[in-house]
Amino acid sequence: MGIRIYEKEQIFQIDTPNTTYLMGVTRGKYLGHMYYGPRIGDANGSYLLRTAAGPAADHAFQKDKLGFMEGFAFEYPAWGVGDYRDPALRVRDAGGHQVCEPVYEGYTLLNGKPVLPDMPATFAGNTPEGAAQTLVITLRDPLLGLKLLLRYSVFGDSDAVIRSVTAVNEGSEPLYLEKILSASIDMDNDHFQLISLHGCWGRERRIESRPVSHGKHIVSSLRGETSHQMQPFMALASNGTSQKDGDVYAMHFVYSGNFIAEAEMDFQDSVRLSLGIHPDSFEWVLAPGEQFETPETVLVYSAHGLGEMTRTFHSLYRNHLMRGKYVHRKRPILVNNWEATYFDFDDDKLMAIAREARRLGIEMLVMDDGWFGKRNNDECALGDWQVNEEKLRGGLKSLVDRVNAEGLKFGIWFEPEMVSPDSDLYRAHPDWAVQVPGRPISMARFQYVLDLTRREVEEYVYEQVASVLRSANIEYVKWDMNRPLADLGSFGLDAGHMGEFSHRYVLALYRLQERLIREFPDLLLENCSGGGGRFDPGMLYYSPHIWTSDDMDPVERLLIQEGTALLYPLSAMGSHVCVVPNHTVGRVTPFDTRARVALTGAFGYQLDITRLSDEDKQKVIFYNQEYHRYNDLLREGTYYRIASYRENNMYDCWQVVSEDKSECLVTYVQVRYQPFWNPRRLKLEGLDPDARYRLEGTDQIYSGGLLMHAGYLQNMIFGDYGSAMLHFVKE
Ligand code: GLA
Repeated sequence: MGIRIYEKEQIFQIDTPNTTYLMGVTRGKYLGHMYYGPRIGDANGSYLLRTAAGPAADHAFQKDKLGFMEGFAFEYPAWGVGDYRDPALRVRDAGGHQVCEPVYEGYTLLNGKPVLPDMPATFAGNTPEGAAQTLVITLRDPLLGLKLLLRYSVFGDSDAVIRSVTAVNEGSEPLYLEKILSASIDMDNDHFQLISLHGCWGRERRIESRPVSHGKHIVSSLRGETSHQMQPFMALASNGTSQKDGDVYAMHFVYSGNFIAEAEMDFQDSVRLSLGIHPDSFEWVLAPGEQFETPETVLVYSAHGLGEMTRTFHSLYRNHLMRGKYVHRKRPILVNNWEATYFDFDDDKLMAIAREARRLGIEMLVMDDGWFGKRNNDECALGDWQVNEEKLRGGLKSLVDRVNAEGLKFGIWFEPEMVSPDSDLYRAHPDWAVQVPGRPISMARFQYVLDLTRREVEEYVYEQVASVLRSANIEYVKWDMNRPLADLGSFGLDAGHMGEFSHRYVLALYRLQERLIREFPDLLLENCSGGGGRFDPGMLYYSPHIWTSDDMDPVERLLIQEGTALLYPLSAMGSHVCVVPNHTVGRVTPFDTRARVALTGAFGYQLDITRLSDEDKQKVIFYNQEYHRYNDLLREGTYYRIASYRENNMYDCWQVVSEDKSECLVTYVQVRYQPFWNPRRLKLEGLDPDARYRLEGTDQIYSGGLLMHAGYLQNMIFGDYGSAMLHFVKE
């Protein structure tokens, strides 16, 4: 790992353990992208700074600057001087012109990784001293007085490159940032397939792939949050890319608001891949002397298919993004009462669940929606965060104490960003809702959004949550957000700054969560948005797991968790055992399969455990023991996708291998039984080829090489939705 600078040639070489990223300056002016791919030695690669007419020679440039601009591989393209592809930067000046031409000025090389003020960001963590480095390249448009700092950070133990940008107005007139993405990269097309994740409520993050053709391919959110519909991620994969083979170039955004990811192929078959804050619904006024920071984008190149890309993201996020004492620890097994009771509960009911939970080996009770104000349905009371003493007789502290006395921890649900029109809060402060004066506010789930861009609202929201947490021994918060933003407007912003609303909202959300985990450092925070609408790397910085989806049916979860685990560590996925028939899709599946699929992530139950059959209660006890046996492995181990139900329409399989390769756990789910099939051949990965592994509970012994190349033969299981967990342990 290391960053090398070739001063004479003005070439910047960023090496990670297995990759190299190259940039250079052409003709002393433009910063160009030269190469991203497998690690190379010394980069004597000036010839890579090319245009359609060959090297950017002086005479060609003088004669036809536009020809140069639209063919050059820019490192951070700006709008206005002849590069007609979608830019990373568009700036309007005080005269209304949208022309910007940043040119190279210099660089700084830093040891370590600077923090991003008020925003989630990767950090060096336990990386050995000096093994994290940051290259800061300065570009300038002298006429605008605009300085740009392009940052590139690397960590010694990761193949990711982290990019972000600072814009500084060093001029004397205001500048208007209309678009400022975090990263952009120009490459030659290699029969690329574009991979993205799409979905909706109940079926989040489905993997989708399509060929890149001429024109623009966009994945985005304008909902004010990351959304169920799209993930702030895009990858370009060479044709035929599989889990093990193929080149993959991926970008993932460390942000929780509007975003745009784009692949644009131009007439020369050059592809521009870019990612950042969505320029629609965005404008930032940069007064003289002010600066703007973009969020971070993570770049990953894999020479060995999607599997290696996945593992690079997983280890980056586990070691350099997720924080708090629970990241590398077992999370308490929880029971959440939402699908057990919905709004219909009281302290007796919760205590009955808590007592049963203790008997079954569950470690925490999470009280979901409905404990505050007059909230007996979803039509009222958001914003009134006082406990409903008709439901919880004796108050919250009494309930928490009684739950603690049973030996269980206590967790609580909030939806702090929202207000119901039918609430004391709204009646007192109708202007605190996000709105446009004179226009009726569009309702979603009977609720409005609080205007967090106003400091007094942010302060109020914080105090509401914090005072509840201070009042009792609450060790877990589920922070929910059940509608997207619309009717954007704030009484706190003037017309000139209204375009800043969406980003200011996200910044306020980050400040709130940062403050919360600082005041309550032992708190385990779970983020949630109507299921998985806010599953993004930004939120992962504050909460080590996120609620993956309201859909807990294990078959649906195969698809949701496969897509989620394409980028996120298994431990980041909130995963609960549901009741049957499942409340979202009505499917009836065996308890074992529900439990095995849920065990993969941050584990818990979301059903009425007091009403389970004795047989199912025994299973709860059993799977809680399984959780304790396997969670260290599942949480810290290396993940391999072995087979995909999405692709084969029959079965799903994933494997987690311990770091020292001494054991692995394989989860197999056979969605459909079909007669007359030979056993499934599960070709495992990541084992020691020469070691001997015993399949636990049997006398079968296999070499690692045999398991990886010939495969383990999994017999068909009669009936639909069968499953197996196979634990191989080195002899
Ligand atoms: C959202 C969450 C659910 C539950 C409900 C409560 O939909 O995703 O898990 O908390 O809100 O209203």
